[in-house]
Amino acid sequence: MTLTRPNDPAALPGDHRLRRLRATPALRALVRETRLDPSRLVAPLFVHERAGSEPIASLPGQARLDLDGTIAAARELAELGVGGVLLFGIPDAKDPDGEAAADPAGPVPQALRALRASGLPLVLIADVCLCEYTTHGHCGILDGERIANDPSLGRLADAALAYAAAGADIVAPSAMLDGQVLAIREALDRAGRTETAIMAYASKHASALYGPFRDAAGSTPAFGDRRSYQMDPANGREAMRELLTDADQGADILMVKPAITSLDLLALARQRFDLPLAAYQVSGELAMLEAAAERGWIDRRRAALELLTAIARAGADILITYLAADAARWLREENR
Ligand code: PBG
Ligand code: ZN
Repeated sequence: MTLTRPNDPAALPGDHRLRRLRATPALRALVRETRLDPSRLVAPLFVHERAGSEPIASLPGQARLDLDGTIAAARELAELGVGGVLLFGIPDAKDPDGEAAADPAGPVPQALRALRASGLPLVLIADVCLCEYTTHGHCGILDGERIANDPSLGRLADAALAYAAAGADIVAPSAMLDGQVLAIREALDRAGRTETAIMAYASKHASALYGPFRDAAGSTPAFGDRRSYQMDPANGREAMRELLTDADQGADILMVKPAITSLDLLALARQRFDLPLAAYQVSGELAMLEAAAERGWIDRRRAALELLTAIARAGADILITYLAADAARWLREENR
């Protein structure tokens, strides 16, 4: 239908008057379709083995935390009603095979035990990958310059087991190796860890938006790039195949990342899968927001909430975001 008589608004058909429900804050709240809630936010945390906390230059507001800092950050997040934390470890020593990823005395298991003991009502999620632990910075064990897929799976499974034993509710494999979800599910079940859930980084593109994270985690590949295991950002149908294989392999939650470049995938996945969907608003998404806000080019708070709302509107149930604490604070204030 078209507006046939624009000069005589009273004669317009009623269904064209979409502004009716936008007139007051109360009306807008009544018809709002998407609401963020702190309980669906997950905050990434970087845990290192050194004493004290170091701010991360490439990720404003984030720091590499020691154990005390981790507990303090978690306590604040819990008080704000944030749903969970996603832990990344930054080990002191690396080796070519990323052995430290599965060390029960490593930074992530230590942090998990401390968080578990704290009794805070947060879901504890551990990222499972080798890139923070390998000297070459790739996400698996190498054969020449290529990642050896199947030989890497055992190490990923060992890491997942170590995190489950240390108290993780959820392990989150992010290496984009084929069969990683199945390998981890089988290892967990064999060890009697049938209750540990898996959140699969199922659709993960080889993105330019991970740069600040790699600075934070010291995981920039020493040579080459990740395009032989992470997906071509041009591919959406392939992303659906990744989601499907991870669901088939026993994933409990499917994640897409980056978030802002995957809104189409979230919308599609929402129709095709009944598993909970997560989206990771990655470091480069934060960097763009922070840089523009710092220059006064955008309103940080409004832009941040708009971005997160759009990710939820597209279909994400769970939002992994460096803005978790801020967003939770704003949501509490706004009562939107
Ligand atoms: C490591 C991992 C990365 C991110 C999450 N897990 C980096 C990468 O794949 O290079 C990116 C997170 C971010 O950019 O915030 N497997
Ligand atoms: Zn990795």
